[in-house]
Amino acid sequence: MRIDIISIFPEYFAPLGVSLIGKARERGILDVHLHQLRDWAHDVHRTVDDTPYGGGPGMVMKPEPWGEAIDAVLAADQDARPRIIVPTPSGVPFTQRLAMEYAAEPWLLFTPARYEGIDSRVMAEYGSRLRVDEVSIGDYVLAGGEAAVLVMVEAVGRLLPGVLGNARSAVDDSFAPGEMENLLEGPVYTKPPEWRGHEVPEILLSGHHGKIARWRRDEALRRTARNRAELLAALDPATLDKHDRRLLAELGLLP
Ligand code: ADE
Repeated sequence: MRIDIISIFPEYFAPLGVSLIGKARERGILDVHLHQLRDWAHDVHRTVDDTPYGGGPGMVMKPEPWGEAIDAVLAADQDARPRIIVPTPSGVPFTQRLAMEYAAEPWLLFTPARYEGIDSRVMAEYGSRLRVDEVSIGDYVLAGGEAAVLVMVEAVGRLLPGVLGNARSAVDDSFAPGEMENLLEGPVYTKPPEWRGHEVPEILLSGHHGKIARWRRDEALRRTARNRAELLAALDPATLDKHDRRLLAELGLLP
């Protein structure tokens, strides 16, 4: 997968050289290209922002440098088209489902903004020709979109074939469509079997795969009920078996 990132802080992306994503790049699974937006600002100060039309606080990113920068990235490959991802707190929520969708794309272009965001005509211009998604990583406001890009690249990158040591890991993730859709993963344990008086749940030492799977699902349901009641409400009733129903009834969560 090719990933391009245009930003006024390309150095912000140094963490993409580390750990899982760094290894994926070394192995050629991920091809990351960083671009300095100011390279396409032509005045002496290399200005990328201006005051908002209509008034109000803060500054808005000018359309011209973004247009030139995006055109330059698009020109890198005449035969392919990237999906453009614009991080913004006003966007659609970034979810595991969206991460999986992005992981299936050959080319992504991220355009993280500073200040109050990018002049909307940039999204209109490219949105008429390409897929342009305005995406939020959560209901809080960051100082810029760069941290959101780091989050999204990591979530997408770990789903690429060959990146995770064990392909099953992604299937068991919290939120993964399928068995874990709308469920949080339960607690995990490793050796030693007893630590500071805390014991590992007996069932996990039993070697009984069926019972262990059942226990894990119970714990996932309990944790979801405790931490994210709205996710539990969104569970498809058709995916609940009679054990699930009994547990939810015990928790007072089924009529
Ligand atoms: N930029 C600022 N806040 C953001 C958020 N929550 N998600 C994506 N981009 C952002």
